[in-house]
Amino acid sequence: MERAPILAVLKEKAGRYVSGEELAKRAGVSRTAIWKQINNLRDAGYGIDASTKSGYRLVSVPDLLLPEELAWELGTKVIGSRILYYQSVGSTNEEAKRCAIDGAADGTVLIAERQEGGRGRLGRGWFSPPGGIWISLILRPAIQPADAPKVMMLASSAVCSTMRSLGLEASIKWPNDVMIGGKKIAGILTEMASEPGMVDHLVVGMGINANIEPDEFTPDLMSSASSMSIAKGAPVDRLSFTRALLRKIDRDYEELLAGRSEGIVGEWRQACGTIGQDIALSTPNGIVRGTAIDVDGNGCLVLRGPEGTDKYASGDVTVVKE
Ligand code: BTN
Repeated sequence: MERAPILAVLKEKAGRYVSGEELAKRAGVSRTAIWKQINNLRDAGYGIDASTKSGYRLVSVPDLLLPEELAWELGTKVIGSRILYYQSVGSTNEEAKRCAIDGAADGTVLIAERQEGGRGRLGRGWFSPPGGIWISLILRPAIQPADAPKVMMLASSAVCSTMRSLGLEASIKWPNDVMIGGKKIAGILTEMASEPGMVDHLVVGMGINANIEPDEFTPDLMSSASSMSIAKGAPVDRLSFTRALLRKIDRDYEELLAGRSEGIVGEWRQACGTIGQDIALSTPNGIVRGTAIDVDGNGCLVLRGPEGTDKYASGDVTVVKE
C-alpha cells in the first residue's frame, strides 16, 4: 500500500489543493515519487486534479473495494489486519485457503471485484460478476472445532444486520442464506482446517449480491436470486456497506473469543425466518418434511416431523405453502 500516505494527505484536505512540496513532506516521499504515485492512484480510478500553481486535489474516489479505502479509519481490532485485493480472481475462498496455509494472520481479508470460479455450498458454483461483494476472511479462533458453526452464524447474522441497517428487510434462511422478499441476496461458505480439539483456521466466504441488475442474472438464478440494489431500487454504496460489515464482524468476533456467544446465537435466531415454518428439507438421504421448531447453538436445525424430532446439520430448505 505504497500510495496510502499520499492518499491520506489528499483525503485530509477534503477536496482542497495541497502543494507538491507539502504532499512530499507529509507523505515522506520525494517530489519525483509524488508524480509517479499520483499517476498510480489515477490508474486505480481516483480522480485527482493537478495544477502547477496549487498542487493536487482529490476530486473522486472510484467505486471499487480498494484496500486503502476499506482500511481508511476502519477502527477494527482484528478483522482487516491485512487486506488483499483482486480485480479478478478464481475464488477468494480458494485463495484464502492458500494464504492461510502460508501463515496469513487472523483477520486477513481477501476481496475481489469479480470471481471467475466462485464457489457455493454443496459443491455448487457462485455467480460473481462485478458489482457484488465477494469476500473471504481468514480466522484463527482459539475454539473447539465443534464451535465453528457459531462463526458461520456470526457471519450470516452480521450480513443480515448490515442489510437491515440500510432499511432492507433481510432475514436468514437456514443454514446461512440471507434473503429479501423470498429471494437469496447473500450466501456464506465456511471452510475449516482443524486438528482434534483445535481449529487451525477457518475461511469464511461471503457472497453478497450488492449492485447486480435483474438482467445480469443467469436464467436459472432469475427466480431465486436478487440483489440489494434491486430490493432498494437504487445502487448501494458497496464500500460503506463492506466497512460496516467488517466492523460488525470484528465486534462479534471479539465477543465469541471471550466466550460470549449467546448474543450471537440469539441475534441469529431473531433474524432467522425459517424457525416456525413448515418446510421440506432436502438432505443427501432424501426429503424430510416437518416444522422447523428451532436452531440450536451449533447451528443444527431442529425439525419436528411425523416420526418425531430430529436435528440436521445441513440441507436445503423449501418453505411449504398451504
Ligand atoms: C452459498 O452457496 O450460499 C455460499 C456462497 C458463498 C460465495 C462466496 S463469494 C466469496 C467466497 N469465495 C467463494 O468462492 N465463495 C464465497
